[in-house]
Amino acid sequence: MRVFAALSLLQVLPFVLGKKHGNSVERRSRAMRHGDLAERQFVETIYVTETIWIDAIPTETSPSSSIDAGQPTTQIEVAAMAVPSGSIIPDEEESAVSTSSSAAIGVQTNTAIYGLSQATNPIDTFVSSSSDIISDSTTTDAPISSASASAVQPQGITISAGLNVTLGGSGSGSSNTSTGNPIKINSEKKVFAHFMIGIVYAYTLESWLEDIALAKSKGIDGFALNIGLDSYSQPQLDLAYKAAEQSGDFVCFISFDFNWYTVDNVTGVSDMMKRYNDLPAQFKVDGKPFVSSFIGDGFDWAAVSQGCGQEIYAVPFWAPTQENADNKGLSGLFSWTAWASKDNGPIDAPLTTIQDEAYINVVTKANKAYMAPVSTWFFTHFGKEVPYSKNWLFKSENLWKERWDQILELGDKLNFLELVTWNDYGESHNLRNWGGLHSDDGCSKWAEGLDHLPMLDLSIPYIKAWKSGAKTPIVERDQVFYWYRPHLKSAECDASDNYGSKPDGWDIVSDSIFVTTMTKLGGTLKVTSGSNQPVMKLVEPGVQSIEVPMGAGKQVFEFSTLSGGYQKGEATVDVSDQCWKPLTGNSTGIYNYNYHSGVLHCS
Ligand SMILES: *[C@@H]1O[C@H](CO)[C@@H](O)[C@H](O)[C@H]1NC(C)=O
Ligand SMILES: *[C@@H]1O[C@H](CO)[C@@H](O)[C@H](O)[C@H]1NC(C)=O
Ligand SMILES: *[C@@H]1O[C@H](CO)[C@@H](O)[C@H](O)[C@H]1NC(C)=O
Ligand SMILES: *[C@@H]1O[C@H](CO)[C@@H](O)[C@H](O)[C@H]1NC(C)=O
Repeated sequence: MRVFAALSLLQVLPFVLGKKHGNSVERRSRAMRHGDLAERQFVETIYVTETIWIDAIPTETSPSSSIDAGQPTTQIEVAAMAVPSGSIIPDEEESAVSTSSSAAIGVQTNTAIYGLSQATNPIDTFVSSSSDIISDSTTTDAPISSASASAVQPQGITISAGLNVTLGGSGSGSSNTSTGNPIKINSEKKVFAHFMIGIVYAYTLESWLEDIALAKSKGIDGFALNIGLDSYSQPQLDLAYKAAEQSGDFVCFISFDFNWYTVDNVTGVSDMMKRYNDLPAQFKVDGKPFVSSFIGDGFDWAAVSQGCGQEIYAVPFWAPTQENADNKGLSGLFSWTAWASKDNGPIDAPLTTIQDEAYINVVTKANKAYMAPVSTWFFTHFGKEVPYSKNWLFKSENLWKERWDQILELGDKLNFLELVTWNDYGESHNLRNWGGLHSDDGCSKWAEGLDHLPMLDLSIPYIKAWKSGAKTPIVERDQVFYWYRPHLKSAECDASDNYGSKPDGWDIVSDSIFVTTMTKLGGTLKVTSGSNQPVMKLVEPGVQSIEVPMGAGKQVFEFSTLSGGYQKGEATVDVSDQCWKPLTGNSTGIYNYNYHSGVLHCS
């Protein structure tokens, strides 16, 4: 087979033999019909592929096992990617295959996943050539915005080999849309992270400065400082406000936790606020000190304004009723519905925006603000060794990416976002990693040793997009993110587990690796999960989600982008078919349905 490729521009050019074999797993999920929400159905297809790697295609440069980004390489990967039976591939495919070469790509792409850009054709927008070279390139549009679209047809893309590939899309402006227009940031929109003061009695000014520097570097504007009635709440608030002021460009507000505070404690709340209301780092709206809460419905925030001697801007987490929205003491409402659940138990369904719409509906009528939650995950596993024993998960899986898509969809209807949480390790929705001067209430067993920080990088393009009013993330660099649970569901740990049984909801999650790619031009992803066969997938520009079956062993990710980036990386935590062994303590194995994540930066 002869392959003509512009290898100075493309490091790795995948060819996919259009053979229809292999297994495919189709997952369907149905969003519930509710109110104005269009019923949506999305179909995600996982390819279990058979891959042939051919390294020895001759070019100017010699092959290298470690490929530097930006260096042309000789490696051309030839893969056979199965086309799922029953998927819709345009008829053109067959003719394309035969036109100029024996190699062709028959790939199903999924623009349909949660509001991804449907505008861009992954290949032909960006690949141009002399007219006789690309034999065919076909896409079918799959608009998903239409309320009547009950099922989304996959796009079919065919590309034949024998390409002289150049990048840049001559005459096409669409390859440069994200950088072509200056991004206009709406400075009224803010992103906060929920910070549990309760576990940081030992934090120093230095600790706070470090956390704030990290948060700032990920596009977070401030901390929502959750306090209960701990004796160290006030000294730690003092440090937080001081560190925020020193850091600059970072704000704070208190989030009173009414698990501990009582609704009759107007004086206690007012006195606490008064200490910080006039500090430079206090977040204010229209000059009013901002404050929030965890529950506490019915608390008299108007009386707190009186107690403080100035108008405050209260946005507590209360139920989305019109009565609450109309409450004179409030300037807005905050939701804690960051996970799909029913009666605070797990359900086998994705999170929808139904609850957001309920809040938006009531606050809009009251002309008030809405603060929406965004979360990565939920898993808690406190055993009988503590009085606050609890053991369940909420189905999270691809939540982080899907929730961010929802945030962009809701767009300007959201005034503020609160990432839940910065450091609640006990429920596994911490964005900051375990470590430092915080305490351990027993959750180190499932929190320590798992990296969550890469998730913060995923949110950066979304935060930029949300603030600028864009409906798709502003992708400025090529990256691939992945996350997965550290052991298979088949692990049995009742005998050694701290709780003694699997978490509620364990059976509604799948043994999958969740991958999100962000590219300007698209690329090729290869995932090798343990002893499973490698999975290859072409990805479109923008943001794409891929779910790959999880196998015990090392997790290896390889990504080459059409901008010329290439990275290969092995995750720092293997998947095990055995129970999770906590890093500290003497436990021999527990159920750990927390996640580990990683990122490869390709440009
Ligand atoms: C590809 O480009 C090279 C150099 O411009 C040229 O020599 C070659 O004929 C081209 N191949 C095809 C198939 O057009
Ligand atoms: C995209 O457009 C901007 C502004 O017009 C320009 O400066 C930049 O070079 C363009 N980038 C590419 C990759 O064409
Ligand atoms: C009211 O709140 C203050 C601190 O804000 C606290 O010191 C006090 O104990 C609280 N009172 C009650 C009865 O909980
Ligand atoms: C593990 O450590 C705890 C206290 O840290 C102790 O009570 C328990 O007996 C130990 N278990 C084993 C099997 O060593």
